[in-house]
Amino acid sequence: MPDRIFFEPLAPEREAEALALVRSVFDAMVAPGFSEQGRASFNDYLDRFAFSRREGEGVALAAVRDGILVGVLEVVGGNHVALFFVSPDCQGRGVGKELMHRAVERCGRDDSGPAALTVNASPGSVKTYAGMGFAADGGERERDGIRFVPMTLPLQPL
Ligand SMILES: CC(C)(COP(=O)(O)OP(=O)(O)OC[C@H]1O[C@@H](n2cnc3c(N)ncnc32)[C@H](O)[C@@H]1OP(=O)(O)O)[C@@H](O)C(=O)NCCC(=O)NCCS
Repeated sequence: MPDRIFFEPLAPEREAEALALVRSVFDAMVAPGFSEQGRASFNDYLDRFAFSRREGEGVALAAVRDGILVGVLEVVGGNHVALFFVSPDCQGRGVGKELMHRAVERCGRDDSGPAALTVNASPGSVKTYAGMGFAADGGERERDGIRFVPMTLPLQPL
């Protein structure tokens, strides 16, 4: 685990920073593989539902380095990974893995928790999710121009 990176619940005052991080990583790493419709659909999703814009409960976790947000993971509906983005200069150093570990702890901490976490993985992130224990539920799909592979991580009660 890299030094000087702290993990914490995403504070409400950091939500604009989190949205900016998601947009910039999406634009650099995911959007090039999407159609114009897919890019517009994802941005529309962010405008309407990301973080506290959604009605109901969501769990959002943050990775912070030197006071700057470098990673964010949001789980909605108790069991679905809706957003998972790490700043490119911090990728491949275990930040994503630690965020996921903490999300699993939050979601699966008792017998009444969900049996599994699900995600609609961007095509470029499928291997990363597989390395974290997720298994693909079939092949790539497309909805509103958004390309994804549905994946599931079974949870053990802690
Ligand atoms: C997906 C993402 C959040 C992962 O964050 P990260 O900090 O880079 O992840 P980690 O460094 O913890 O790596 C997790 C595992 O995936 C592996 N991995 C990372 N990138 C990989 C790649 N391109 N191919 C294969 N394995 C990869 C790592 O080696 C690691 O496995 P290991 O611990 O066995 O070595 C980050 O890469 C990202 O923001 N990607 C672009 C946005 C995106 O597609 N998000 C998903 C939307 S559904």
